[in-house]
Amino acid sequence: MMYSLSRTPLSNSRFNRSTWLDTIRALTVVGHNLEPAIFAHFQPHAHATARLARHFAAYLFGDGKHRHWLDEIEVGAYMHDVGKYFITPEILLKPDLLDEEERKVMALHSVYGALAISKLPGVTDIIHSVALCHHEHWDGSGYPDGLSGPSIPLEARIVAVADVYISLRAKRPYKSTLSKDESFNTLQKMAGLELDPSLVEDFLREFERGAMFRRLT
Ligand SMILES: [Fe+2]
Repeated sequence: MMYSLSRTPLSNSRFNRSTWLDTIRALTVVGHNLEPAIFAHFQPHAHATARLARHFAAYLFGDGKHRHWLDEIEVGAYMHDVGKYFITPEILLKPDLLDEEERKVMALHSVYGALAISKLPGVTDIIHSVALCHHEHWDGSGYPDGLSGPSIPLEARIVAVADVYISLRAKRPYKSTLSKDESFNTLQKMAGLELDPSLVEDFLREFERGAMFRRLT
């Protein structure tokens, strides 16, 4: 499947991967010391999603040609859930499934995260749109804006596949770990509903093909 980049990479000339890594290190120190429970929830998932999303994007577009674009995907994937720091731990870390009101509060994390990111000097459209749109669904049932299909920025659709896969494989207070096969089956069921069906197809193909991809996950 051919995908076209939805916007020009490096839309902010102040974007710099190493500066962002400094920002991420600062976030790590602050999160670890001030909100250790949220940090424990946020950091492993952010790290794993960033690595997987970058590798998946490199598979789709090649490793060298779009280096800055891959950098932005990686940073966006790391920061995609940063808005969870603004969600009360009683909801974020609740050991049961959320009720409807709690889900509405939780859904605000994408808006809060995008707003916080928008204040940083090295932000780009891609990093911002990944944070804002990673819970938009292919069928239009997602949030915050109910975007659908290709109107969802490609980078957010890529990160969404990585985000969902890492979440399926992770243990959560309200669910156990799924095996790779169970996760693949779930991804296939979500294709065309929550996730871009072409990206799911490519993800599963690359997963079966790539030894490095398997090591990453
Ligand atoms: Fe999220």
